[in-house]
Amino acid sequence: MSSYGVRVARNQGGIGRGYQTFSVELEDRMTVLDALFAVQRDHDPSFTFRCACRVGMCGTCAVSINGIPRLACRTRASSLGAPEIVVAPLPNLPVLKDVAVSMEPFFEQWKRVTPGFRPKHPESKELAIVPASSQYMRMTGGKRDCITCGACFGACGVKATSGEYLGPAAINRALLRLADPRDEAVAPRMKALDSERAGVWRCHTQFNCTAVCPKGISLTDSIVWLKRAMLRRAPFEKLP
Ligand code: SF4
Ligand code: FES
Repeated sequence: MSSYGVRVARNQGGIGRGYQTFSVELEDRMTVLDALFAVQRDHDPSFTFRCACRVGMCGTCAVSINGIPRLACRTRASSLGAPEIVVAPLPNLPVLKDVAVSMEPFFEQWKRVTPGFRPKHPESKELAIVPASSQYMRMTGGKRDCITCGACFGACGVKATSGEYLGPAAINRALLRLADPRDEAVAPRMKALDSERAGVWRCHTQFNCTAVCPKGISLTDSIVWLKRAMLRRAPFEKLP
């Protein structure tokens, strides 16, 4: 067991109330999420944070840990190499209470890229098979695992200054749909992506999103890929 000082942000009704530090004992394999539960269980039952799966699948536990957006359930306290763990809400999102944020702005942007699948042949009864060996599957292999945690949204320096910017996850989602040979909704997505104020052109290629994504998605690569496709000034070519 090791002792940690867990310094957590306190917020109530959207008003910051500073930080409070609690002393917590953790075993070596325990996570920052375990530390948050210990604060709530042993010190203050009103302390508020979000989580669901506890195994890195649902994306709900993303918070700022020692200044970096990360999943609390996938971050071992011992890996931080510090006796103090500072936990704050994800940046760029409104705080509901303590370290829990509202994901509404994230999903508002997500909706703007027409994220759902729009089949070319909705009446067809045929299976629309995309072979694993196809260019689409090869090119998007490392980009399909988003769990909508919002870590990239919180880490994005452009998002910090522009509420209109779509953000990396929504852009990556648009890329997946645009490249899918079974999908047909090109125009509404291109309209959202080609916006000077909100679309891909706002990205300054800072790589913050790529650095924090817990699923290892190369978001900057997705954004650059789309910029190149647009500069060709040709209709978006589906990958076979
Ligand atoms: S792209 Fe990565 S960091 Fe961004 S929401 Fe998805 S899983 Fe989280
Ligand atoms: S609790 Fe689900 S990802 Fe952490």
